[in-house]
Amino acid sequence: MSRADAVGVDAWRAHAEASVLLDGFHALKHALRFGARVPVALATSRAAAIALAEELAPDVRDALDGLLVEVPEASLRALVPRLHPTGVAALAVRPDRAANLAAIARLPRTAPVIVLDNPRNLGNAGAVIRLAAGFGATGVVMTGSLDPWHPTVVRGGAGLHFATAVERLTVDELPPGPVYALDPEGEDIRGTALPDDALLAFGSERSGLSPELRARADHLVSLPMRAQVSSYNLATSVGMTLFHWSTCGTPGAPEGRPAA
Ligand SMILES: C[S@@+](CC[C@H](N)C(=O)[O-])C[C@H]1O[C@@H](n2cnc3c(N)ncnc32)[C@H](O)[C@@H]1O
Repeated sequence: MSRADAVGVDAWRAHAEASVLLDGFHALKHALRFGARVPVALATSRAAAIALAEELAPDVRDALDGLLVEVPEASLRALVPRLHPTGVAALAVRPDRAANLAAIARLPRTAPVIVLDNPRNLGNAGAVIRLAAGFGATGVVMTGSLDPWHPTVVRGGAGLHFATAVERLTVDELPPGPVYALDPEGEDIRGTALPDDALLAFGSERSGLSPELRARADHLVSLPMRAQVSSYNLATSVGMTLFHWSTCGTPGAPEGRPAA
């Protein structure tokens, strides 16, 4: 290993415990676009990663050029659980919880907060964060024991945790705002205008909405679904609901779509 490689690997070891793993080029690209602080970024081929940036994300090309340290594939494999096909991995500093909570609680709100009530599936949680980022939601709050910053959730979110405010809270700690809880037994969402300051709440994959969340709900709303189908997937439900919100008024986002 050259001196530069060794410096990259040492920097990784110094930051690994306290940081968020960005797994692959696209996660790193998104994190940089949305202002993440990235103390270390490694690649098995700097040239290949820069070429990918020139093709897909010229807006972050120079930032990557300044950040990426090339290390042998074996060294990178020893640092990450599963090397991403792009041969890129980076570490990012997790946003300040107090700042995230302030952003989630701030009123007036221009876009809803998503509440996942005791989600169990890490992939679903990541997919929801990606949806929230895409629609410009104010934040994603999860109740229960699942860590919304678990590496598998960050992988599922494609580095977009930095594009919205992601935190874990109890139902009692939820921010202000009318709660629209999604449940197949609720009123048809097509007759309901979802306000920008709403908390859009979704139940657990296993058991649906908890009694605590139901007690906090101001409205129960349902997504259209044919008889004999029990329910939709959690992330799919969030996607449909955010799309419905986006048609209700003047959404703050999404704005112009950047390159891939
Ligand atoms: C997989 S479902 C939960 C299924 C669970 N077995 C139950 O008893 O409700 C996860 C969440 O997605 C939302 N959801 C799924 N299908 C829905 C529908 N047709 N209308 C409203 N919400 C729905 C609800 O918030 C639900 O709690």
